[in-house]
Amino acid sequence: MNPLKIAIGSDHGGFRLKEEVKKMLEEQGYDFRDFGTFSEASVDYPDVALEVARAVQAGSFDRGILICGTGIGIGIAANKLAGIRAALCHDTFSARASREHNNANILTMGERVIGPGLAKDIVNVWLETEFAGGRHARRVDKILEIERGYMGSKQQSFLSGDRPKRFFRGGKQRGR
Ligand code: RB5
Repeated sequence: MNPLKIAIGSDHGGFRLKEEVKKMLEEQGYDFRDFGTFSEASVDYPDVALEVARAVQAGSFDRGILICGTGIGIGIAANKLAGIRAALCHDTFSARASREHNNANILTMGERVIGPGLAKDIVNVWLETEFAGGRHARRVDKILEIERGYMGSKQQSFLSGDRPKRFFRGGKQRGR
């Protein structure tokens, strides 16, 4: 069993790619948990982003993988949580750099942007690459300082359990 614990999630736009990535993680012996969505029915990507980002933020999981149609919306949402560094990567160079330089703890990808072969290579590189530290640590620390200065009080109400409406519950979904 690989020691990394991974939280994975997607909206409907990333559902099929999530299933492919899960298959690979399983074959490679990773310990992972799927936070949904569990079908191709339309859902809102911020709901899934919040679940996975909270799991990583809390330290119950080492890394997260989030997939939507583009990888953009789900990453923007995840990055609203303090301590989360979600990186959108559609090539292996960025995937490696996001770990070495930015200590990214969530990888985001878009199912409508890249194919499953490349996506799986990206996941492999991203999971296997360590943070380089050194001058990069100083810069990541500055990101944490920005969070402390600008995200403080609002962030607290989320962390203390005052959560928005329940996951996937909502009004009628129109469009995808
Ligand atoms: C859903 O249609 C789509 O907007 C979503 O998957 C994602 O691409 C948003 O950034």
